[in-house]
Amino acid sequence: MLKSSIDKATGFEKRFENIGTVVYADSTSASKSIAEEIASLIKVKQSQRQPCILGLATGSSPKGLYAELVRLHKEEGLSFKNVISFNLDEYYPMEPDSVNSYVRFMQEQLFNHVDILPENCFVPDGTLPKDKIREYCSDYEAKIEALGGIDLQILGIGGNGHIGFNESGSLQNSKTRLVALDHITRVAASGDFSGLENTPRTAITLGVKKIMEAKRVILMAWGESKSNIIKASVEDTVTSHVPASYLQEHDNATFVLDQAAASKLTRINTPWLVEKIVW
Ligand code: F6R
Repeated sequence: MLKSSIDKATGFEKRFENIGTVVYADSTSASKSIAEEIASLIKVKQSQRQPCILGLATGSSPKGLYAELVRLHKEEGLSFKNVISFNLDEYYPMEPDSVNSYVRFMQEQLFNHVDILPENCFVPDGTLPKDKIREYCSDYEAKIEALGGIDLQILGIGGNGHIGFNESGSLQNSKTRLVALDHITRVAASGDFSGLENTPRTAITLGVKKIMEAKRVILMAWGESKSNIIKASVEDTVTSHVPASYLQEHDNATFVLDQAAASKLTRINTPWLVEKIVW
């Protein structure tokens, strides 16, 4: 996992990776291993007669994970009756039955295919009047707090390093709130909305603070297009410019990557820099 090296000039050990990273041959095997971790957490919580609080993401990255969780439910009897889930974000404004709503995404990818109780599935509400959003967001956080916090948070990563819709510049103590979407994020989503002009400009997102308070965080990234931002998040300094880099300061966060997303990490791109040199 964490690879270290000897800095030739100083002779001191130098870490390149400041977050645990696990690299799989492909996103399918990576998604299966994340699903296994989630399944065992759900079962541990069941044996303790406790709810399992999951923080969930949407987008293309978690689709394989949700497919595997559905398979575990259908073929191996994994029950979601003790799961309470909180999604990271939702476009604003957004009707729940719209094709691009994250409510609909979650129903189609996961909720409709497992035995999770509908009243235990929380996705930020994209239909609220603007003057109700602030109170709604603080209630969303209060619900999470009342349950003792998020046990396991699943994240994807935006090309600009966003987590949830905490875009570049989001503070580490940022709360759940209405945010303006970065142009890069809107361009990435514009295909789903048939053009940039139809793509929402705002969204409601869980703040960085609640993500950082999760007991366990797994960020997944697939494909070459994520490789530069993965390197920046894992190896460069912690900066609000790249919100995923805040996870360097989380004591139980892991980046699960396929080979393409990991391809710019020093240990893969320039492995001779991390080989231990015996003088
Ligand atoms: C989605 C979310 C976003 C995505 C990110 C990556 O709920 O919070 O941060 O995880 O934009 O999206 P994909 O997986 O589509 O590359």
